[in-house]
Amino acid sequence: MSDAIWLFGYGSLIYKVDFPYLERRRARLAGWARRFWQGSHDHRGTPDAPGRVVTLVPEASSVCIGMAYRVTPDVFAHLDHREKNGYGREAVTLTLDDGTLIPSLVYVANPGNEAFLGPADEAAIARHIAASRGPSGENSDYLLHLAEALRELGDEDTHVFGIERALRAIGPRPARAE
Ligand code: SIN
Repeated sequence: MSDAIWLFGYGSLIYKVDFPYLERRRARLAGWARRFWQGSHDHRGTPDAPGRVVTLVPEASSVCIGMAYRVTPDVFAHLDHREKNGYGREAVTLTLDDGTLIPSLVYVANPGNEAFLGPADEAAIARHIAASRGPSGENSDYLLHLAEALRELGDEDTHVFGIERALRAIGPRPARAE
């Protein structure tokens, strides 16, 4: 299909695939680092108590591993809605495992968007995640699903795995009184 477009997923788009795609390939994006620096008002938190989710930040020495999907343009109506809390589409070039370079779109939440939270140390991010939840569920599930998906992709993301370790060290969340 000639008007099909590649989309790079590096966060929930790796493990929560609620959109149709024509083809899916492991891919890497050079010059960007995955960071839990974006607030979530609509999925893993609320406007009053935002959760923390990932965005990409430029970092010359980094390579972000993720999943590339070849999709038809109509899929973006759903994805733009899903990623509406501060993310915009950017054009990038991905590298597939066989070395092929492909033009792609990626959702990035830049500093300055209203939900952006910025850096914090791993223990603080883990505490924040442990305490947050939103309409899409527990913020900790977002982190744990992402860590698991990255392991399946053979990634060694020290940022995500460090926060995962810190979250597990906090222990299980106490049951809530309803
Ligand atoms: C992505 O997964 O590519 C964007 C961030 C997210 O939805 O978690």
